[in-house]
Amino acid sequence: MTATQLPTDSAAVLASLEEIEAQTARMVAEKSYEDRLRTLSQASVERHFDAFVDIDWDAPENAIRLDDTRWVLPEVDVLGRTEWYRSLPVEEQIRVGLYRQANITKVGLQFEQVLIAGLMNYAFRLPNGSPEFRYATHEATEECHHTQMFQEFTNRSGMPVEGGHWLLRKLAPFLPLAARWVPFGFFWGVLAGEEPIDHVQKSILRAGNEMHPLLQRIMQIHVAEEARHIGFAHQYLEHHAPRLSRVQRGVLSVAIPVIMRWLCDEILVPSKKAQRDMGIPKSVVKELYWDAPESQKFLRDLFGDVRMLAEDTGMMNPVSRRVWNLLGIGGRPSRFRSEVASAAA
Ligand SMILES: [Fe+2]
Ligand SMILES: [Fe+2]
Repeated sequence: MTATQLPTDSAAVLASLEEIEAQTARMVAEKSYEDRLRTLSQASVERHFDAFVDIDWDAPENAIRLDDTRWVLPEVDVLGRTEWYRSLPVEEQIRVGLYRQANITKVGLQFEQVLIAGLMNYAFRLPNGSPEFRYATHEATEECHHTQMFQEFTNRSGMPVEGGHWLLRKLAPFLPLAARWVPFGFFWGVLAGEEPIDHVQKSILRAGNEMHPLLQRIMQIHVAEEARHIGFAHQYLEHHAPRLSRVQRGVLSVAIPVIMRWLCDEILVPSKKAQRDMGIPKSVVKELYWDAPESQKFLRDLFGDVRMLAEDTGMMNPVSRRVWNLLGIGGRPSRFRSEVASAAA
C-alpha cells in the first residue's frame, strides 16, 4: 500500500480503524493456531509500509514548524487536558506539545528496538517447520520500519528528547534475553509496550481533532501494523498458556501485572529530564501520574483488553487479582478486543 491510499479525513480514518478490527476478527475466526499465524503473515505481505516510501517527509505540508498550532496537545491527552497546560501561552503549548510527541515517539522506538532484538532471540531457537518463525520475522521487519519512521520524526522535531527513563535505557540490552528464556513472559512484555501506545494512538485518531498530517500519517501506519502484532502476542499467549506448569503459571500470574505497570509507566510517564525540559511543575506530575481520579481511570482503561487476556490464559487468580488492583490497573476485563474503554472499565 502506498501513502496516497491512506485516508486523511476523520470519517475515513474511523472507517480504516474499523477495517483493522475486522482484519483481526477474520484472523481469530481461523480454526487452528497455525492458520491464524498464516493469515497474519499473509496480511503482512498484502499490507505493509516503508518509512521512506509511504511518508513524503519533504512535502511542504509535512514540515514541522514551531508556529503551527496543530502541535497543541488535544484534550484526550492526559497532559494536554490539565489546567497548567491550558494556561500556558500558545507558543509554549506548541513547544511542549511537540516535545511530548517526540518523546513518546522516542520511547516507542527504544521499546521496538528491544522487541526486534527479542524476536531474533526467540526465532533463533525455533525448530524447522515452526508456524511462529515466519510471523515473528514479518513483525521484526515491520518494527524496523517503525523505528526508522519514529527516529526520522524525532530528528525532524528538533527536540532534545532522550526517550525512556534511566532504568529502561540501562536494562535495554538485557531485556531481549527474556525472549529466549521465558518467551511467555516476554510476549506479555510486548503487550505491555504495544497496548498502551496503540490505545493512546487510536483514541487520538478517533477523537478526530485536526492533527498535523505528518503525525497523523505516522499514527495511521503504526496502528494498522500494530493490530497484527498485538493479535500475534494474544494468539501466542493463548496457545502456550495451557502448556505452562503450575509453578510457572503461579509465578507469571503475579509477575505479569508488575511488568505491565512498569512498562506502561516507562512509556507514558515523562522521564525526569523530559519533565524538566517541558517545565511541568512537580505538583502537576504527581496529580497526573496517577493521583487524579481521571488519571486513575485512564490507567485502568488502558488495560481492558489485557485483563481479558489474563482471564483467558489463566493468569487471573485471587492473588494476582489483588496485585492488579494494588497497582491501579485492575477492573473489569473487556468483553471483546478493542472494546471502547469507557465501556470496559
Ligand atoms: Fe511498532
Ligand atoms: Fe509492534
